[in-house]
Amino acid sequence: MYKKVGFIIASTAFLAACSGTNDYTPAAGATGQSMYTASCASCHNGEFHHWELTAEEQNAEYIKKVISEGTMGMPAFPNIKEAELETLVKFVLENNAK
Ligand code: HEC
Repeated sequence: MYKKVGFIIASTAFLAACSGTNDYTPAAGATGQSMYTASCASCHNGEFHHWELTAEEQNAEYIKKVISEGTMGMPAFPNIKEAELETLVKFVLENNAK
């Protein structure tokens, strides 16, 4: 269910100049892999790879900001926070350049 909704939001976001908000809410204690599969893989997969963060971007503050606030090309995920946000940031760093 979430996956399907996420895909529709993702498809729409790609067409929009500003990407808006994705209201995906992870379960308490969700793993990085499960959050990635549910909410990130629709974009950060295949051609987009996972992430190619520069040395400067490989810091938790920057990644948290991207996830919480979004960018021109990426929706904000305001409901991923606290422990789940920490877990996801760790997952991003571990999967950088893969
Ligand atoms: C709708 C597609 C889409 C979804 C879903 C998405 N992203 Fe992104 N993301 C992007 C795009 C496009 C960029 C490039 C951003 C830009 O330059 O504006 C990006 C950039 C990023 C960056 C910064 C990479 C860099 O090189 O600066 C991180 C970190 C990131 N995303 C993490 C995530 C995480 C974690 C999730 C899942 C919670 C996620 N993204 C979901 C499209 C998406």
